[in-house]
Amino acid sequence: MTVVGAGNVGATCAQVLALRDYADVVVVDIKEGLPQGKALDINQMAPVLGYEPNVVGTNGYEETAGSEVVVITAGLPRQPGMSRDDLVSTNEKIVKSVTEEAIQHSPDAVLIVVSNPLDAMCHVAKNVSAWPKERVFGMAGILDTARFSTFIAWETGSSAKDVTAMVLGGHGDQMVPVVSATTVGGVPLTKLVPQDRIDAMVERTAKGGGELVNLLGTSAWYAPGAAAAQLVDAIVLDEKRLLPCTAYLEGEYGISDLYMGVPVKLGAAGIEEIVQLDLSDEEQGQLRTSAEAVREVVGVLTT
Ligand code: NAI
Ligand code: 2OP
Repeated sequence: MTVVGAGNVGATCAQVLALRDYADVVVVDIKEGLPQGKALDINQMAPVLGYEPNVVGTNGYEETAGSEVVVITAGLPRQPGMSRDDLVSTNEKIVKSVTEEAIQHSPDAVLIVVSNPLDAMCHVAKNVSAWPKERVFGMAGILDTARFSTFIAWETGSSAKDVTAMVLGGHGDQMVPVVSATTVGGVPLTKLVPQDRIDAMVERTAKGGGELVNLLGTSAWYAPGAAAAQLVDAIVLDEKRLLPCTAYLEGEYGISDLYMGVPVKLGAAGIEEIVQLDLSDEEQGQLRTSAEAVREVVGVLTT
């Protein structure tokens, strides 16, 4: 499998995938020395932690040939004061050129986009590749859901492992944490936490990326890298996982011709099904608002 971009998110994703111990990883970046150095470092962690896969760092695409999955993390991250959408024109050019190169060498791969603004960059990858929507999608919902789940675990004093949540919509401040589908050990969140505390967690989740940018001076990478790796697992191991994913909608949830975060079933073929949740009227309305925000950014694309 291939990870394009050996920066914070790409290198973390490669590291998590190497630890999973089921396949070799090729990391590509335009910066000379960076992917080679990160790959060498991750390989040298293997004897300490006891895993086998080989990680290759490169500035070209020859070594990526025949990858089952290509994860695209190349592009600028946010800095304080920037929204994800401020990155659109720079990252559009980068995602376009990376997609062109990657598909040439791995014509049967599944493309997972991570670069921001995520929903719009999925459109770029789909338009440039002209691949079926099942094989071109984005990672955001796993990360946004992980943030929501973390806050719920803290609030309820429960293990994060027992929290089941789902955050849908675009990867922007209008994202939609679906409270009606959120449980802790099977108990609805609304039975465990008062509404004002739920509202505060929803708000913190929606602004979760910005919170980290303000703390770090750049965007987060540990949870994003691990979240991208989880999608790779689901595909390469044909896991049939039901995960939130940025998928191309053609009428599902009343939204057409737009990439948005929705629950999907993932396996070797990529997206095998878009799962339709029963949303409350309020949640459905929030999803429409989120779709409008995504459409505005997509409208700026030239690809
Ligand atoms: P970073 O700056 O650490 O790494 C980006 C890497 O991309 C750099 O090493 C750079 O040299 C490389 N790059 C630039 N142009 C390239 C090209 N044409 N070909 C190959 N490599 C190229 O940034 P970081 O933190 O890793 O973030 C990467 C992207 O992921 C950003 O756009 C960020 O906003 C996005 N992101 C998305 C998340 C999501 O949930 N979808 C979460 C976190 C970050
Ligand atoms: C995040 O949510 C900025 O998309 C990035 O951390």
